Amino acid sequence: MSGHVKNMYPQLSISQAARTLLSLLLVAAIDSMNAGIACRNQQCESHIQRSSKLTRLIHMESVDLLKIYKASQGDLSELFCQMPINIVPDPNISGLDPSERMLSIYSHCKVFLPHLKRVTEQQRDLQPPSSPLLNNLTTAQYRTSGLANQINCIYQTLFPNLPIPLEPVDGPTSIHPSQNVFQQKVYGCVVLKNFKELLSQIRHELRTIKNQMCKSRTFAYTNALF
Ligand SMILES: *[C@@H]1O[C@H](CO)[C@@H](O)[C@H](O)[C@H]1NC(C)=O
Ligand SMILES: *[C@@H]1O[C@H](CO)[C@@H](O)[C@H](O)[C@H]1NC(C)=O
Repeated sequence: MSGHVKNMYPQLSISQAARTLLSLLLVAAIDSMNAGIACRNQQCESHIQRSSKLTRLIHMESVDLLKIYKASQGDLSELFCQMPINIVPDPNISGLDPSERMLSIYSHCKVFLPHLKRVTEQQRDLQPPSSPLLNNLTTAQYRTSGLANQINCIYQTLFPNLPIPLEPVDGPTSIHPSQNVFQQKVYGCVVLKNFKELLSQIRHELRTIKNQMCKSRTFAYTNALF
């Protein structure tokens, strides 16, 4: 997308105002995609606060998303969510100290992404193209991806001497059997239910981590591995 925008710059027909707007959009896009850039110059507290805000937004949207999902699946949708299913990641953040818990938040975000993607693909076949659910699922994916970037950035800044978080290796497409429509509806509901619970846990964790990490110290800029 940025390539597209760049290609438009040489066209002299674009007015100055449009150019200014374009460059602002470009900066905003780069800023949101590459959290690493914004990461450096922020204090611990405001840094975590930014992620807390994003988490709160995704959490609120995930509550609605689950409702919209259920409303789009027809009868029995309440039952779908109660079915036991073991291929969906659990939402629990684990770890003994703040660094482990940050890593757990990061890897949970990453692990849920391919599941959200798979649900989106399945629902694309089940819903009319105009269904807002498809937009909502896509939004949840890119916001979660943005949150993972921010968490990664905070992690590297708070713990400059620990190894950089690894990407989780397996995606659900490689390990999951094919699913019939009923199984897809159950799977989607459980993914979104656990996703909502995950966001609730991340909200709580970020509050705790902020209290533990930001009170008595500021960022160790000089040690950071950027
Ligand atoms: C779902 O999508 C609709 C239309 O695109 C939008 O108005 C609404 O805010 C979205 N809701 C959530 C929870 O993302
Ligand atoms: C997640 O945490 C809840 C509440 O603490 C607990 O009941 C549940 O068993 C945990 N689930 C997993 C998979 O660890």
